[in-house]
Amino acid sequence: MTETNRARPLAFDGKYVKAEVVQNVRDYKARGVVTNLSNRPMRVGGEVPGTIPPWKSTIMVDGIIASADLVSIVAIPDDANLGGVVFDGWDWFGNRFDKFPRTTPLYISPHDVVGQVRLNPYAFSNAENPRDFIDNYDIRLNLWWAPAKTDCFLHNEHPFLEIHTQIFGQGRIQICHERDVATLYREITTAVGDTHDPLVRVTGDREFAYPWHRGWTDTDAIWMAIELHPAS
Ligand SMILES: [Fe+2]
Repeated sequence: MTETNRARPLAFDGKYVKAEVVQNVRDYKARGVVTNLSNRPMRVGGEVPGTIPPWKSTIMVDGIIASADLVSIVAIPDDANLGGVVFDGWDWFGNRFDKFPRTTPLYISPHDVVGQVRLNPYAFSNAENPRDFIDNYDIRLNLWWAPAKTDCFLHNEHPFLEIHTQIFGQGRIQICHERDVATLYREITTAVGDTHDPLVRVTGDREFAYPWHRGWTDTDAIWMAIELHPAS
């Protein structure tokens, strides 16, 4: 029998952020933003049980996860000096990406590969006529921090499937026709506890197209990237 409730701290667990990943979850108490990192629905215990669909999330306040394959639980118990999170093993994103604007305060946490998943990327991204195609992916997580009113940089390339869960604060994902915010045509609000639907369009085997998009913070914010990287 597989061991239940195999838990470990995530690489970005630290002074400000408490973060763990739990595998094969059964009747597990959770406090924080819980993200279902699997293809199967997560069940929440209660008089009337609740359901969190695959790759979606919820806020739990000592609620019980009745069952789930794999979840992350991320909490910020105390937000005093929360901006200090960038000194807790994080990196300014400009150190990772030469073309990143030199004065934009976007910071990235250490990343953590929490497991692998097999899925159909066409179905994952809600394609109209999903092709019959299954692939393997590493599930890679990291956090981002930016203060209010940060332009987190327009981009349209990722060699992976990406979604995000909001952990703290509010923002939006802004989607543009071109590499120009004046061509904005859509916004997705990011509220704490929410995971947005994928923006990606799968264009072939391990080929992904993204619209021009950027994160925008309305308040100081922390969000979690969930990246599914094609794996062997
Ligand atoms: Fe992106």
